Amino acid sequence: MFLRNEWYVAGFSREFCERPLQRWVLGEPLALFRTASGRAVILEDRCPHRGAPLSSGEVCGESLTCGYHGFAFGPSGACTHIPGMSTIPPQARVRSYAVIERWGWVFVWMGEADQADESRLPDYHWLNEPGWEGRSEYLPVKANYCYVRDNLLDLTHARYVHRKTLGTSAVTDYPIHTEMHGRGVRVTREMPGIEPSPFFRRMGGFTGPVDHRQQIDFTPPCHVVINTRVTSIVGGSENLSAEFQVLNALTPENERSTHYFWGLMRNFALGDEAVTEMQQKLNRETFFEDLSILEQQQMLLDCKPEGWRPVAIPNDGGCLQAERLMSRLIAAENRS
Ligand code: FES
Ligand SMILES: [Fe+2]
Repeated sequence: MFLRNEWYVAGFSREFCERPLQRWVLGEPLALFRTASGRAVILEDRCPHRGAPLSSGEVCGESLTCGYHGFAFGPSGACTHIPGMSTIPPQARVRSYAVIERWGWVFVWMGEADQADESRLPDYHWLNEPGWEGRSEYLPVKANYCYVRDNLLDLTHARYVHRKTLGTSAVTDYPIHTEMHGRGVRVTREMPGIEPSPFFRRMGGFTGPVDHRQQIDFTPPCHVVINTRVTSIVGGSENLSAEFQVLNALTPENERSTHYFWGLMRNFALGDEAVTEMQQKLNRETFFEDLSILEQQQMLLDCKPEGWRPVAIPNDGGCLQAERLMSRLIAAENRS
């Protein structure tokens, strides 16, 4: 069960080009492409003629031509041309999705296009904000998007899963604070005077004790922004400080699979391409550590025995609030 009246990341701007791309979102096949005039378009990827994928065709001007018998469809989804025919049956059309392209990412509204609400667009402005630098990448995950969300909302796993990368044993020694924030859930953990993690040692050159803060914002349906700030506590007012924004868009491909779009932005060592390379590499390695757990979790929970229930502890607070919020929103959407 998914929320439909929300924005999901469909892809990066660089993926929208004159060569169409198929991507399944919420179990629906989408054809992603860019018209000759530069507009990013998303159409249902199922030709109304015989059901072939439009994405196997080609972009001609402002239209996408089906690769089977040549029906052409404009950005509205209406058929604009059928070879050998002077009239076009009105039912020859596909669904066109509302699209917003911003910060190098392309968002798709999975509800009715005429209800698309720009005010609900999640905030990933760090992607092109002066003073922040980094890149975004894509990772396919064979697990439900909620497992990925919960992984990000409970960072105590870093002590075990990311022992060699992000891991700091302090993460389980300090409690979290969970609250409703905006239209989502915020989890904060303050870890004063701890040893810096291997990641911050390498990235920021921190050696002595640091104040480390994690703030995680979940915004429905699947957006998680993690702000992590480390401040050196030696050196008085000249304290060295470094921040990352970890941007996570967890677009469900279907119930058991997720398109994980992530960006990692930092506010220090600006202009240093070697640092960007290193941060991407380290973060990628970190996500691969998560991936292994998440995909096995999906497999084991797929065949859980009748009555099996997860055991909850206080560190699950963010996950539980997010789950309850999503259940309420999905129930409300289904009622309307
Ligand atoms: S299936 Fe697309 S034109 Fe025939
Ligand atoms: Fe992780």
